[in-house]
Amino acid sequence: MSENLSVSQASAVGASLAVDDTPTIRLEGIYKTYDLGEVQVHALRGISLDIYRGEFVAIMGASGSGKSTLMNIVGCLDKPTRGRYFLDGKDVSVLSRHDLAKIRSQKIGFVFQQFNLLSRTSALENVELPTIYAGVPPAERERRAREALARVGLSERTGHFPSQLSGGQQQRVAIARALVNNPSLLLADEPTGNLDSRTSVEIMDIFQRLNSEHGLTVVIVTHEPDIAQYAKRAIEFRDGRMKKDVLIQNRSIAAEVLPTLPSPDEDLVQGVENPNGSRNGAAH
Ligand SMILES: Nc1ncnc2c1ncn2[C@@H]1O[C@H](COP(=O)(O)OP(=O)(O)OP(=O)(O)O)[C@@H](O)[C@H]1O
Ligand SMILES: [Mg+2]
Repeated sequence: MSENLSVSQASAVGASLAVDDTPTIRLEGIYKTYDLGEVQVHALRGISLDIYRGEFVAIMGASGSGKSTLMNIVGCLDKPTRGRYFLDGKDVSVLSRHDLAKIRSQKIGFVFQQFNLLSRTSALENVELPTIYAGVPPAERERRAREALARVGLSERTGHFPSQLSGGQQQRVAIARALVNNPSLLLADEPTGNLDSRTSVEIMDIFQRLNSEHGLTVVIVTHEPDIAQYAKRAIEFRDGRMKKDVLIQNRSIAAEVLPTLPSPDEDLVQGVENPNGSRNGAAH
């Protein structure tokens, strides 16, 4: 981990941040082994960790150290091979995939490095999608989607397709989509991995505001020590184990950093896609 992340006490960081007794996330001895027939990949080798409401955690570590594997389990997208996971005090490690999907849609917003927007679907419709899965009445869906887009500063872009938006704007649509069902937990796996440095700080500004103003618990994965400085707590993985767990000292505040950065090219639109073209690159 970077020298920027001054070490405080490595143990029991979560407990020191506790605002109530029930952690939002409690992991007890989590293992994940991928069985590839000939080979077994031990992606996680006994992770125990508490994260409390209102925390902002950055997970760091070398490529292949198990960060995404952990995020997928925490995000109820995957199940551990062994160990227990309590989400808001409820043991979700025993649930079926169907029940996990239900919990995910109620409690968790997930943001990916690649944005994962549907390419021939407007920003508004992309954001509405999770409300359909959650069974929100049609009249309410659009109102919620507009509200979520407003929260990320994209009210003026609701009718744009992903190809008509900059990378940072696409990621903001993805964040709005993650927020639309009012989750209590926001997970982001390398959310700034495809963005330039100013845009990355803008994304961190959104996360910091959601965390401080709306009390959302935020967990991000990042390779960049500068980005981890915007969190409150940093955890480092190595070979499927937790190697460090520290409070961030001299935390960066995105709203203070942004005015010091060169201003962006306003409303830069990257490569407009042929609207009659194929749906290449569409995800989910
Ligand atoms: N579906 C899978 N099947 C088999 N092995 C997998 C699978 N997903 C991940 N792995 C392996 O598990 C280990 C951890 O992978 P993971 O994606 O969690 O790493 P990571 O820390 O997120 O890396 P990166 O920083 O490159 O994203 C790696 O050795 C990887 O090859
Ligand atoms: Mg990863």
